[in-house]
Amino acid sequence: MRKKIVAGNWKMNNTFEEADDLLFELAESINDLELENQEIIVCPPAIYLEMSTDVGIENGFSVGSQNCSNQQAGAYTGEISAAMIKSLEVKYCLVGHSERRKYNHETHEELAQKVEQLLSNDVSPIFCCGEALEERQAEKHFEIVKAQINDSLFGFSKEEMLNIVVAYEPVWAIGTGVTASSAQAQEMHAFIRSLLSEKYGQDIADEISILYGGSCNPKNAKELFSQADVDGGLIGGASLKADDFLAIIKSF
Ligand code: PGA
Repeated sequence: MRKKIVAGNWKMNNTFEEADDLLFELAESINDLELENQEIIVCPPAIYLEMSTDVGIENGFSVGSQNCSNQQAGAYTGEISAAMIKSLEVKYCLVGHSERRKYNHETHEELAQKVEQLLSNDVSPIFCCGEALEERQAEKHFEIVKAQINDSLFGFSKEEMLNIVVAYEPVWAIGTGVTASSAQAQEMHAFIRSLLSEKYGQDIADEISILYGGSCNPKNAKELFSQADVDGGLIGGASLKADDFLAIIKSF
């Protein structure tokens, strides 16, 4: 049975003290939860990965990096490698978040290279995809998401694919307060699963968790997570407040 996942993407937020406070607030509450087939992931800025894994391992949550280099090692100032991430016991890494596609001009090919670096270091990529508002208005959303998945993920084997999580994040819903309706989310998640099934077979497609991201909050999480192909959420703003993040975790 595929895993239910709630992942918090802190983005570029929190000073050291704020990060420390939030981690300990989360730790206290998550420790008390009885989680069945559910994983909680915290993706802090890279500078806090080590302290996050220290707290997470003791208290029942996993840690993800927000990014990694598409190169193995060497003269790439400012970058962090998949091997470094792995060496801190970080289990996940976001790949292709729309903010990085936009501001860092990440291409489908570079994202495939990042996925490859992560898989070869035994870190699970959380691959983000999703269309912009104009693309949805032009009814190109299926085409866009298909190209993103095809060009960055479909070079990998079945075994590799089983270690990848997909996150559908319509760009128009990220940080805007406008959430996709549960019907829109379900429609796209079912489409993504059908792409995975065509390429890798239904058995593999049924094992891959597909998360929804974009203004997910304690009010709408239950409705979104109740959809057949929505296996959890990638949470931005609402992951910065322990109470909100906890309420979302409890929405299954
Ligand atoms: P949001 O961000 O929940 O603040 O919309 C989601 C994301 O960017 O992963």
